[in-house]
Amino acid sequence: MENHTKDSTMKVSSLNCIDLANDDLYHSVASLKQASLDCGFFYVINHGINEEFMEDVFEQSKKFFALPLEEKMKVLRNEKHRGYTPVLDEKLDPKNQVNVGDHKEGYYIGIEVPKDDPHWDKPFYGPNPWPDADVLPGWRETMEKYHQEALRVSMAIGKLLALALDLDVKYFDRTEMLGKPIATMRLLRYQGISDPSKGIYACGAHSDFGMMTLLATDGVMGLQICKDKNATPQKWEYVPPIKGAFIVNLGDMLERWSNGFFKSTLHRVLGNGQERYSIPFFVEPNHDCLVECLPTCKSESDLPKYPPIKCSTYLTQRYEETHAKLSIYHQQT
Ligand code: OGA
Ligand code: NI
Repeated sequence: MENHTKDSTMKVSSLNCIDLANDDLYHSVASLKQASLDCGFFYVINHGINEEFMEDVFEQSKKFFALPLEEKMKVLRNEKHRGYTPVLDEKLDPKNQVNVGDHKEGYYIGIEVPKDDPHWDKPFYGPNPWPDADVLPGWRETMEKYHQEALRVSMAIGKLLALALDLDVKYFDRTEMLGKPIATMRLLRYQGISDPSKGIYACGAHSDFGMMTLLATDGVMGLQICKDKNATPQKWEYVPPIKGAFIVNLGDMLERWSNGFFKSTLHRVLGNGQERYSIPFFVEPNHDCLVECLPTCKSESDLPKYPPIKCSTYLTQRYEETHAKLSIYHQQT
């Protein structure tokens, strides 16, 4: 079988790198804009999240996935899209993944709001089903801290994105946008060898649903992007991990918002038999946010291409299209 990491013909992508500690804002915004118009993938460095802490988060993630399946099933994904997703739960590319879903396990952690918050009963807020603190001491605290830190970095990137879109620097900071976001992190463990000829993927080809995703990985190769989804055959390029950097990509919601100017690019993960851990952090605006063409992205010659849609309506639809029905698990138990 083809060994994807040793394939000498494999193409490696070179992406722009945004340095959050760089004082030359003009340079950062120009580089971000170019990356966003080209493919919507870029690296982010000097984000202020300590490397030792990052290693700690990955260690804790490994501990969770190493638990027996019965223990993980106790925190099975709920209707609010929180909790454990078993192997094959998700199928991101139904056209090419004919018989099976993604060869990965996951664990979704979202924002928790107090019971008296108006968003409490909304699909993407509410409580997380945490693993028992006796089984994984300190686990919840580590994950909550990571969630906070990644959100801080997302807000900083949000400011640069606003500038790259010729908007006010604080445009996305408002409550109806990232001031009260839907921000969901997901621990992932990939196992096994992918075989595209049989429709077997670690993670099938997809573009992300939301505004942007901050991806941290353990350094094992696997992520690929396809800049032109309409090319035949499609050309896939590996995105090599850089130690300490996030790989950031823009999602479909931002593509809609920006009237198609900023790109949400197709990507997938191929497994090479080595275990691989990653942590995507999905950033979406407020549940109630109406995603409609941004004021700076339309003109007489560029009329809005997409109808306005509420953030939660759009997301709910995308999650339902890609995840198994929860009832399949309840039939088994
Ligand atoms: C995703 C994704 C890539 C990775 O979860 O949407 O694209 O490397 N993950 O885990
Ligand atoms: Ni993705």
